[in-house]
Amino acid sequence: MAELTGVLVRTAVSLIVGVLVQGDTQVGCVFGGSCVLPCRFQPNSGTILHWVKQWDGEDVQVHSWYRDQDQLVYQDPLYEGRTSLISGSDASLRLARVNLQDQGRYLCLASTSEDDWMTSVALTVRAPVSKVDIVLVNNIVTCKSGGIYPRPELTWSVSPRPATVLQNTTEVHEDDRGLYDISGSLRTVYSDTVSAYSCSAHNEHSARKATIRLHSPMQSDPKSEVVLPCYASGLDDITWTFNHNQTILRRQAGQEEVVETEWQQHVRDLSESGSLLLYVTSSAQSEGTYRCTLRYADEEEVTHIELKILEDPMAERSYSPPWIGSVVMVSIISLIVAIVVCRNIKARIQRSHVI
Ligand SMILES: *[C@@H]1O[C@H](CO)[C@@H](O)[C@H](O)[C@H]1NC(C)=O
Ligand SMILES: *[C@@H]1O[C@H](CO)[C@@H](O)[C@H](O)[C@H]1NC(C)=O
Repeated sequence: MAELTGVLVRTAVSLIVGVLVQGDTQVGCVFGGSCVLPCRFQPNSGTILHWVKQWDGEDVQVHSWYRDQDQLVYQDPLYEGRTSLISGSDASLRLARVNLQDQGRYLCLASTSEDDWMTSVALTVRAPVSKVDIVLVNNIVTCKSGGIYPRPELTWSVSPRPATVLQNTTEVHEDDRGLYDISGSLRTVYSDTVSAYSCSAHNEHSARKATIRLHSPMQSDPKSEVVLPCYASGLDDITWTFNHNQTILRRQAGQEEVVETEWQQHVRDLSESGSLLLYVTSSAQSEGTYRCTLRYADEEEVTHIELKILEDPMAERSYSPPWIGSVVMVSIISLIVAIVVCRNIKARIQRSHVI
C-alpha cells in the first residue's frame, strides 16, 4: 500500500504540476498556534487524499486519508499528533503547535476514480512582538523583547530631541526554536525637564513600543504622605512597582486595584489617573525607584520616579529610646507623690499649731 500511495502521489504530482499556473495560496500562521491549510476538494468514500510537504525535492508525508479514515502509518514524525482533517468539511488540514520548520510549500493531492486534484499552499510562520520591557539603571535605558520571528530591529526616539547622537547598542540572539531575542541600550542625557525615551521592537509583521518618562527626582520627609504622579485614564491597565522587581499594586481596566500585602500599610489612595498617595517611612524602607507602568494594546508607558527621603539629622539626634519615656513618667509620679506628702505634712504641722 505504501508503494501504491507513493506511486499515486508521484503520478498526481507529475500529472498536475503543469496545470499549476496560478500562485500558491499564502497562509500565515502564528508560532505555537494552530493553522488551517485550505484544500477545496470534497472527499468521498473512494477518495485517496494526501497532504505532503515539499522539502529539498522530496515529499514529506504530512497526513493521508483513504478508505474513509486517517492513514498515519507513513506520517513523518515531525507532524505526529499535530494534524487533522477538518471533519465534515473539504480536504483542508488543521496543523497544531506550528513551529518554524513547518514553513514551506504543501500540496493537497486528491484522487478519485473520475478526478484528480491538487492545490498548493505556501505556509509562513510569524511570532509577533508581544512585550517590550524598558528600564533605566545608572543613566542607561535598556529595552528587551523576545520570542520574535522574523528577525526584529530596535529603534529609539528621544523627547525632547537631544542635541547630539546618543551612544546606543543593539544585540540580537537566536534561540533554539529559531526565534529572536533582542535587547538594546541607550545612554541618557541630563535634562532638567521631564524627558522620555522610547524604543520600538519591530519586524515586517508586528511592532511594539515602550516609553520611559523620567520624572524629575522627588523628595519627601520621613513619616509623611507623598503623591507619586502617573498619567493613566481610568481604563488603563496599570502597575506600580518599587525598585524594579517589587510589585506595589495593579489595577486592570475598570476593576478595583489589588495591593500587595506588604504595601497595604503604605498605600493610602490611587487616583483615577493612577497617581499614588503613599505613606513613606524612612530612607531605608521607602527611598528608591517607583514605576507606574501602563499597558496598551501595542505599547507600554512607564513613568520613572526617583524618590529621596530626607532624614533630618537633628531629629535623629534628639530621638529618644523608649525607656526614656518611662523614666520621665516615674519621675513625674514621684514628684506628685512628694508634693502630696509634703502638703500633708505641712497641713498636719499647721493643725498641730492651731491646737
Ligand atoms: C544610535 O546610534 C546610531 C549609530 O551610532 C546613531 O545613528 C543613532 O542616531 C543613535 N540613536 C540615537 C537615539 O541617538
Ligand atoms: C530585586 O533586585 C535587586 C537588585 O536590583 C536584587 O538584589 C534582588 O535580589 C531582587 N529581588 C528579587 C525578588 O528578584
